[in-house]
Amino acid sequence: MQSLYPRLRKTDILVLATPVYVPLPGEMQNLINRLVPLMDPSLKNRNNRTRARLRSDTAISKLVLVSTSGWWELGNFGTVLRIAKEFAEDCGVKFIGALLRPHSSYLTEDNPKTRKVLEAAEQTGYQLVKEGKISRDLLSIVSHPLLLHQIGGTKTD
Ligand SMILES: Cc1cc2nc3c(=O)[nH]c(=O)nc-3n(C[C@H](O)[C@H](O)[C@H](O)COP(=O)(O)O)c2cc1C
Repeated sequence: MQSLYPRLRKTDILVLATPVYVPLPGEMQNLINRLVPLMDPSLKNRNNRTRARLRSDTAISKLVLVSTSGWWELGNFGTVLRIAKEFAEDCGVKFIGALLRPHSSYLTEDNPKTRKVLEAAEQTGYQLVKEGKISRDLLSIVSHPLLLHQIGGTKTD
């Protein structure tokens, strides 16, 4: 962390990337806890919640979540998404979106559908850097179904 703090202070967009591990790997929670030293210790009430903000020497103004999960439903990301949004609120930075990729194991298959997903994920990175935002169209391509029939028999594609 001591080598990361100077780089984190200079970055404008913080990207948290984690798989869903009922709900998240301990390493990601540890990282979030170790980001707390970037916060200013003076607390404020914002929208009836006690919140902090980042120290004035820290440039981060936006936060993005990138996550994969094994199962299909986007609901699997609910807790990880909430943790990332809460952390953004606690830091007083803008949460600008989440790249969510369910059925991650199918991404290892090389076919037109998986290539489209991976290309969209890459485009999202470029868009984020150039425009500071992510389009909903790209996000929906990233989370697009890869199987004809999902578990439960719902026809999705
Ligand atoms: C301990 C553990 C818990 C997991 N929990 C979930 C879960 O709750 N929901 C889900 O959809 N996938 C779950 N998965 C699947 C992973 O999210 C998925 O395979 C992911 O792509 C793994 O990324 P990694 O290979 O970088 O660890 C879990 C995997 C592990 C190893």
